[in-house]
Amino acid sequence: MKKILVINGPNINMLGVREPEIYGDKTYADLLAFIAAAAEECGCAVECFQSNCEGAIVDKIQQAYMRFDGIVINPAAYTHTSVAIPDALKAVGIKAAEVHLTDVANREAYRRISYTAEACAITIAGKGFEGYREAMRLLAGDG
Ligand code: DQA
Repeated sequence: MKKILVINGPNINMLGVREPEIYGDKTYADLLAFIAAAAEECGCAVECFQSNCEGAIVDKIQQAYMRFDGIVINPAAYTHTSVAIPDALKAVGIKAAEVHLTDVANREAYRRISYTAEACAITIAGKGFEGYREAMRLLAGDG
């Protein structure tokens, strides 16, 4: 059974409260339940991790080395600022998929830059929770 790590970055724990007109009214707990159901569908084991700290996300990626087959990551705001997160993804060599709830290409200009994307096999944006399922399917089905 493939093991997938799902990482969510800063403020994703505030889903449901945070800018509902942009992110919707579903909570982070709803997202965790959605991911658990998607994992069952894909026949893979899943672990979820959320942090507001860049270093904690880097630590988690490093700890995944040789332990996970795929990483689904929504780096949130760190997408547009972090070099350390894509460096960590490249360091561990685990196939990764970048997910964004919203369509980052059609928001503020600064959200169009993703440093994470070059360390990921695919970027899925603008599909809400569904993006996580699509990413997990891709990683679970691969190789
Ligand atoms: C986000 C998009 C980012 O630009 C933003 O900073 C987030 C969430 C998304 O899922 O749409 O926090 O990654």
